Amino acid sequence: MELKGKRVVLGVTGGIAAYKAAELVRLLVRQGAEVQVAMTEGASHFVTATTFQALSGRPVFTDQWDARMPNAMAHIDLSRQADLILVAPASADFLARVANGMADDLLATMVLARDCPLLVAPAMNRQMWENPATRRNVAQLQADDVGILGPACGEQACGEVGAGRMLEPEEILDEVQSFFTPKLLAGKKLLLTAGPTFEAIDPVRGITNLSSGRMGFALARAARQAGAEVTLVSGPVALPTPAGVERIDVRSALDMHAAVMARAGAVDIFVGVAAVADYRVANAADHKLKKDLGGVPPIELVENPDILAEVAALAEAPFCVGFAAESRNLDEYAQAKRRKKNIPLIVGNLIQDGFGGDDNRLVLFDENGVHPLPPAAKSVLARQLIEHIGQLTGNK
Ligand code: PMT
Repeated sequence: MELKGKRVVLGVTGGIAAYKAAELVRLLVRQGAEVQVAMTEGASHFVTATTFQALSGRPVFTDQWDARMPNAMAHIDLSRQADLILVAPASADFLARVANGMADDLLATMVLARDCPLLVAPAMNRQMWENPATRRNVAQLQADDVGILGPACGEQACGEVGAGRMLEPEEILDEVQSFFTPKLLAGKKLLLTAGPTFEAIDPVRGITNLSSGRMGFALARAARQAGAEVTLVSGPVALPTPAGVERIDVRSALDMHAAVMARAGAVDIFVGVAAVADYRVANAADHKLKKDLGGVPPIELVENPDILAEVAALAEAPFCVGFAAESRNLDEYAQAKRRKKNIPLIVGNLIQDGFGGDDNRLVLFDENGVHPLPPAAKSVLARQLIEHIGQLTGNK
């Protein structure tokens, strides 16, 4: 319920992407937002008001002169109660009208009369998006502090391919959540590792672990939403990249070490969430090991570099945060790791709580003491941890 209590006016304009606005309403409502839909006349050619009414639980407004508003001032009353006006899809025509301050239907009038921020998710044919008139209108909207979400590139309803597709509802939801997140890490560069590493035994086999990457990816997303510039170095996982995050895929601990050390000197914060293999195979085979060689193949292990400890030892070290996954004695082992790696903050979790799944239970250990967080979804814990890091790094 990341948007609990937030009041969002969702404007829907005419375009084939209007059908996706129905899913967007569902996602916003599921996150706790109160959604008031206002449609243009054009939008009602693609999807009906009844759909939005059913999904939002509120009557939908289209007409400036709607008799349901006792004072005939829908354009004022609806936007005055809003924390945000979001228009998705926003047609080329609608962008042009807003850029020029027109007030020729309910939605445009509401936008002109608003006293809250405006985000728009454009959707149109690629030629319309590239047309100099639209470029001018978008530049004007940006100068007027209107947030432009997308558009994406890809196949369009008309069969052409290019920029102009509306962002997917999940991506727009992410932008809305980001909009409401306090920018505790504004101006900070944050580097983090996530997932397992894979240490090859031969070309098809290897040593790895059960880290899914979820905790690290949730943290990358929360940091981006808190305003940080985020680079995520990920071991082999099957997760989509959080919006706005730079992702570098690696396989082994040595690959992860190289990717991190090439960047660590230029960041403000480093977070090691990855479950890095402590050892790699020294005698990895170039060809698949055969069973009929006689006896069990000997596997020699050699220690991997400790990425977190090396980053913490840099002359200009970033603020370092470690994780510790333990099966017992969490406090004792986590504190010992914090001291050994010489880092200001370590996040402890029990293996049975944290590996795999969507939920976790975290305990934060820093110079000020021990801070247990209640068990919750990794997305929720990620936001709480980012808040804690924001406080420790000086951004309140
Ligand atoms: O990916 P999920 O399924 O969501 O699970 C999340 C998690 C359980 C993997 C995560 O929350 C977690 O606890 N990660 C750390 C795992 C661990 O126990 O690491 P460690 O004790 O081996 O290492 C301690 C710290 O040093 C970690 O920050 C680790 O990233 C870092 N490290 C360790 C070894 C190494 N060679 N280089 C490192 O940087």
